[in-house]
Amino acid sequence: MSNSSPRHFLTLLDLNPSELNWIIQRAIELKKIRTLKTPYEPFRNLVLGMIFEKSSTRTRVSFEAGMAQLGGQAIFLSSNDTQLGRGEPITDSARVISSMVDIVMIRTFSHTQVEEFAAHSRVPVINALTDDYHPCQLLADVQTFVEHRGSIKGKTVTWIGDGNNMCHSFINAARQFDFKLNIACPDGYLPNAQLMAINANRVQLIQDPKQAVIGSHLVVTDTWASMGQEDEKKARSASFENYQVNPALMNLADPEALFMHCLPAYRGLEISHDMFNDPRSVVFDEAENRLHAQKALMEFLLLEPKV
Ligand code: CP
Ligand code: NVA
Repeated sequence: MSNSSPRHFLTLLDLNPSELNWIIQRAIELKKIRTLKTPYEPFRNLVLGMIFEKSSTRTRVSFEAGMAQLGGQAIFLSSNDTQLGRGEPITDSARVISSMVDIVMIRTFSHTQVEEFAAHSRVPVINALTDDYHPCQLLADVQTFVEHRGSIKGKTVTWIGDGNNMCHSFINAARQFDFKLNIACPDGYLPNAQLMAINANRVQLIQDPKQAVIGSHLVVTDTWASMGQEDEKKARSASFENYQVNPALMNLADPEALFMHCLPAYRGLEISHDMFNDPRSVVFDEAENRLHAQKALMEFLLLEPKV
């Protein structure tokens, strides 16, 4: 680690397009290295602290397994079992934890919590999902698109459903990876207006899902009720009923279109039962690529390659 301030990955805007594309290509290489079973352990003696204030399957397993595969170790810190859950300030936690580990990932509610942690951390901090953004998922999603269809630059992506943390990260991805993004959300569930306005050259709101998917090379959705919105499930299901992704909707997109969902998915709600196993769905490739993309991200942050 150099003496300068650490680089963080709180949103996709923290890295420039060349750096992001380096991570995507490196993720593809690391996937091959794993298939060949070639030992590669650059993280020997390095430790990742993983702070979780929300549930997770993919994020926890991919970070923990990724660190182990690269020769390092990971410590799982749940807010239920640490002093964070008993009210110790995030700033104090950041100073203490970052004095003992080499890199930190955080999954929490408020995005400002992650920003505050990073501001007081002496090691790189990765946003592993906040209410506002989920940038690690986008690395895996772009990797998956590149593997199946080549560069995403200049392509058209359509987001269907809630204007949530994933949608916001797709808006940032449109800017950084240079693709067009159509967004179909019902009234009351639109993404952040400022983020939309800043990216108006690449992102447009088309509220009718059937219109929005026309010509699209990638269709993406997510749960209608994110973590922390469990009490709103019933009301949301009613508001979103015309926003399900199913094979009939996909048939209106480009014939080569792919379907993505960060998972977990709720069959019969945001996706139909048959969409899950539709040949256009690459949801399990996306899930696996969390492993490879985050290994590449940690290499970038810890080993500071010249990009
Ligand atoms: N997609 C994703 O972040 O999954 P988990 O909530 O299981 O980590
Ligand atoms: N939007 C979802 C993503 C889960 C990975 C949530 O925040 O719960």
